Parts: sequence; C-alpha cells; structure tokens
Amino acid sequence: MTLLSEKPAAVRPAPTVDPVLSLRDVRIGNPHTGAEIVHGVSLELTPGKVVGVVGESGSGKTLTCRAALGILPANLAVTSGSIEIAGADISTLGSREWTALRGSTISAVFQDPASYLNPSIQVGPQVAEVLRVKKGLKRREARHRAIELLQAVHLRQPELVYSQYPHELSGGMLQRILIAAACAADPQVLIADEATTALDVTVQAEILDLLADLRDSTGLALVVVSHDLAVVAQLCEEVLVMRDGAVVEHGPTSQVLYRPEHDYTRLLIDEHEQYGLHRFVKGKNVPEEQAS
Ligand SMILES: Nc1ncnc2c1ncn2[C@@H]1O[C@H](COP(=O)(O)OP(=O)(O)OP(=O)(O)O)[C@@H](O)[C@H]1O
Ligand SMILES: [Mg+2]
Repeated sequence: MTLLSEKPAAVRPAPTVDPVLSLRDVRIGNPHTGAEIVHGVSLELTPGKVVGVVGESGSGKTLTCRAALGILPANLAVTSGSIEIAGADISTLGSREWTALRGSTISAVFQDPASYLNPSIQVGPQVAEVLRVKKGLKRREARHRAIELLQAVHLRQPELVYSQYPHELSGGMLQRILIAAACAADPQVLIADEATTALDVTVQAEILDLLADLRDSTGLALVVVSHDLAVVAQLCEEVLVMRDGAVVEHGPTSQVLYRPEHDYTRLLIDEHEQYGLHRFVKGKNVPEEQAS
C-alpha cells in the first residue's frame, strides 16, 4: 500500500461556489449628521443557503435588508463596507440597473402582505403583471405562468384564486401570493423580512415549509429576518444575532443555539425554551452529543 492511498478524503478542497449576495462590514447611517445606525454587518449567501437574522426591535435587521435591496430611506446610506449581488458592487449601479436587478436577481417579502397588493385588482393579474414587466411575457403567457406560480406556492384551486380580490383571501394566502410575485422573475436571492410574523403559528409553519421547498426546488438563497429565534432555527443553517445595530453573534445555527457566546443570545434562547426550540434543530447540523 502506498502512502498516497492512505491520504484522508477530507483534504480534497470543497468546490467553490460564487456568492449571490455578499455584505462586507456594511455600515449604515446618516451621511449628513454622521450618525451611524448599523455598525458593520457581514454575511455571504451562496445558492440554496439560508441565513437567519434575529434581534430585538430596532436592532437594524430591516435597514440591513433594505440596504441589500437598494431601498434605504432617503436620509440614510451605506457609509462604508460593500454589498455585492451576483458579483456586482451595488454602489456602482444606476437606477435603471437597479430596476433590472430588483425582482429578477434579488427580491423580498415583508410583513403585512395586504399592503403590497392593490385592493381593487384581482390577485392573479397582479402576479401576471410582474411577469409581463420583468420577463416580457405576453398577456396569455403571463396568465398561464402566474397560475403555475400560484400552484407552486401551494394555493389550492389556483385558477379560482387568480380571479379573487385581496379582501377575499386570508393572510396566509396573501403571503403566498406575495411570495409567488417575488419569485415570478426567478430571483437568486429572496429576503423574507418578518414575512410570517403576522400569521398564526400553523400558517407561519406552512409558509416556512414553502420557503424551504422553494430553496430545494430552485436553489433560491434566503435571508430570513425575524425577532423570533424559533423561526430561524427551523429554516436556517446560519444565524446572525443583532443588537443595537451590531452583530453580537454569527455562526452555524447549531453552534449559536447550543454554544451561544453572548449573553444576549442566551437571553433570546431562554425566551424560547417554552416552545421547545431545540426540537427544530435536532438532526439538522447538530452533532449527536449536543442533540441528545
Ligand atoms: N429613516 C430613518 N432615519 C433614522 N433612523 C431610522 C430610520 N429608519 C429606521 N431608523 C432607526 O434604525 C434602527 C433600526 O431600525 P430597523 O427598522 O432596521 O430595526 P429592526 O431590527 O428591523 O426592528 P423591528 O424588529 O421592529 O422590525 C431603529 O432604531 C430605527 O428607529
Ligand atoms: Mg424590521
């Protein structure tokens, strides 16, 4: 036997995949007053990867997402660091380039889906409109594809739902419509900012399953934002814990949940003991001795 054949397989380098979204030490603040709100966030998303962002209200989760989507409030800006989407540095993009990227490369769903839909237009045509604008589909094709999308987000009787108005649908169904619209132009990254917060627990679990499903079937990469650690534990392989605009902890979900290094993370975990948080991560990246 030669020495060479005894070489462990683990030395083989893993194939490298280019990140679809990459934030490097992103700081957000008011450039006029110099006030800084987000003090350096870094994360990297490869296809199919799901990263969770948790933290109390006002910790900077939404502003971080909005920076990645190029929709920061007018008084705020990324003051240092860099954001790249599919290899393009977003600080170099003009508004036309942004419009092309938004929806087709990076997309988002937020809390309160009803407020993102026009109440006086049937929901199906609103999804079809995205297909017409972003994918250049003709009216008939757009309708056909929109119905397929409604089916893909597990809406029963998609043809019927297509012709319904927002007020005729439940919150969970509306969030599915929004997810269908957000995925219409085949984005590589979907940001779900408190997308399940307003829904009851059962519907919330169904929507999280749907996101996992989309990830599995399309390789969609996800940023899942929540103040609820149980939500991200269910879906994410990596978690970022934010407090007062700073990242206090960042690592694989199992590590953050089982070996939290920061008191604040411990506090978040303790708050969830009653929901049996650990149940969610069992058998999912968790070494045997930790899961038992
Ligand atoms: N346009 C703005 N100008 C100045 N400060 C802002 C602006 N928008 C948000 N902020 C502040 O930035 C901080 C972070 O806000 P952000 O919305 O990102 O928090 P969050 O973590 O998403 O909270 P929540 O869980 O409530 O959604 C908050 O203190 C908020 O008041
Ligand atoms: Mg928020």
